Amino acid sequence: MTAAMQDITVRRMAFEFGEDVDPVVLPGRPEESYGLIGLSLLLPYLEPYLIRTMKEAKPHIEDPDLRADLQAFSAQEGQHYKEHIKFNESLRLSGFPGLAPLEKELEADYLRFSETKPLRFNLAYAEGFEALTTAVARHALLEGDLDESSPVGQLMAWHTIEELEHRTVAFDVYDDVCGGYLYRLAFGLFAQWHMLRFIRRVTLHMIEAAPEVIELHGGAEGARRRAKARAARGRRMLPALLRTYLPSYTPHDIPFTDEMRGLAERYTAQAVGATPPRG
Ligand SMILES: [Fe+2]
Ligand SMILES: [Fe+2]
Repeated sequence: MTAAMQDITVRRMAFEFGEDVDPVVLPGRPEESYGLIGLSLLLPYLEPYLIRTMKEAKPHIEDPDLRADLQAFSAQEGQHYKEHIKFNESLRLSGFPGLAPLEKELEADYLRFSETKPLRFNLAYAEGFEALTTAVARHALLEGDLDESSPVGQLMAWHTIEELEHRTVAFDVYDDVCGGYLYRLAFGLFAQWHMLRFIRRVTLHMIEAAPEVIELHGGAEGARRRAKARAARGRRMLPALLRTYLPSYTPHDIPFTDEMRGLAERYTAQAVGATPPRG
């Protein structure tokens, strides 16, 4: 099975984040805000790497449906990182000098992967990221975690729904071009470790560089309370993530629900431009 199970719509968005935005973008939750910023700083390096990988894979694919899916996948990822760059630039990050070297290191990693690693590695990395985002996206919807009351909340909701729309593509491209469960598992896990390490380093740097923010949010006791809540949420999400590691896992088994369709339609309506879904 190759074609996506629902259409992949490429939406051009025009979010406005303002200027000099407080890095505690999720009110009352500094650590999670920093995690979200870590993810948003990662994407302008990761998503171009995914696009480069897909471009390299395309000549190896004969199935016209999968080629079209690949094209739509890359077009969506291309829009994602542009909006994330806008968000990143809106943030007041002047008090966090440790972020720039972390970004430099990440950028060098992805350039090195593209230049020196085999296509199979890069495709397994891509699917490792996509399997994780699909699990996280489904969980966020299930728990009613998407708060669309702010521009950053809308950015995340739009990104979430498009990750769900194209959830089968990296999996199918890997399968079509090279395939192999154990290799995908091993380097998919490496990908997840590599990304989460960056996000964790960003979070820790931001916590350390602005201790007054944590003090404002209940000090060590407040931090402990929030860490407990995050761990509980992580445990609830774990089964969905663990399922992606099974040999039987395929994103084709994940239904695109009416709720997802509703969210997708709302963002199509909000887009300044959208490539109509293929019929
Ligand atoms: Fe994306
Ligand atoms: Fe994606």
